[in-house]
Amino acid sequence: MTKGWALITGASSGLGREFARLAAADGWNLVISARRTEELDALAAELSTDVVVVTADLSQPGAADTLWDQASDGRDIDLLVNNAGIGVHGRFATAGNARERGSVALNVVAHTELLQRALFDFRERGVRGQVLNVASLAAVMPAPSMAIYHASKAYVLSLSDAVHYECKRDGITVTALCPGPTRTGFFDAAGLDKTWLTTVMPMPTADTVAAAGWRALKSGKRSVTPGLMPKIIAFSARLTPRGLLSRMNGFFWGRRN
Ligand SMILES: NC(=O)c1ccc[n+]([C@@H]2O[C@H](COP(=O)([O-])OP(=O)(O)OC[C@H]3O[C@@H](n4cnc5c(N)ncnc54)[C@H](OP(=O)(O)O)[C@@H]3O)[C@@H](O)[C@H]2O)c1
Repeated sequence: MTKGWALITGASSGLGREFARLAAADGWNLVISARRTEELDALAAELSTDVVVVTADLSQPGAADTLWDQASDGRDIDLLVNNAGIGVHGRFATAGNARERGSVALNVVAHTELLQRALFDFRERGVRGQVLNVASLAAVMPAPSMAIYHASKAYVLSLSDAVHYECKRDGITVTALCPGPTRTGFFDAAGLDKTWLTTVMPMPTADTVAAAGWRALKSGKRSVTPGLMPKIIAFSARLTPRGLLSRMNGFFWGRRN
């Protein structure tokens, strides 16, 4: 029996692709989105539920609204996985390039717009909708060389936590997923080959991390940080002075030659 329609962004690879597999296995029909149509089509062919592919570059102005309009045209979307996001590696003061600004447009602006469209729609229809916002362990600490990325994920987590409580009375759940480093296309896309962080941190696979996020979504939790090491880091970050945290992260995000 199908459960209705779910919209999953960033479904062409990594965590998003795994969320699509989990959602389909749970009986959801899917609208899957990203920029790479071929990857989305291949995923659609693999899944056993109804799947609609919408190609979109969410870093472009108005793209999130257009995606929501296309996704909900003739369908009621009851679940949003707000997953698409990128990191850009490099010094903030020497960058100022389109890619960094695009990461803010994607990670912050499009994320916010989609979340708001979904919640407005759920409330208007009186449905107990569900949202999974993909934040990051990066949300709890600043990081030189990945300054915009960490700041963008701090925004996502803060927004998600607050909206979780706002939505409770409507029976709508908003869950934030805060993974540590995970084996996906993220590091290649960020222009990171070998850093200390990716060398010393154990990296779980995308399916393990997505499954933890999916369980948290289903139980309506406020947030989840999968894995023991990321949980310890998140806890320690709260007790560590921000200056020291920043210096440590500057080292971990530094390139290894
Ligand atoms: N991997 C990690 O270590 C890690 C840790 C914590 C949090 N996260 C978060 O997890 C989420 C998923 O990332 P991932 O790790 O699965 O990396 P990934 O494999 O690189 O997936 C990123 C997804 O976002 C899509 N995307 C990128 N730019 C886009 C744009 N402008 N418009 C629309 N879609 C776009 C990509 O599709 P196209 O390229 O086809 O557009 C892809 O499907 C991100 O929000 C990331 O910040 C990742």
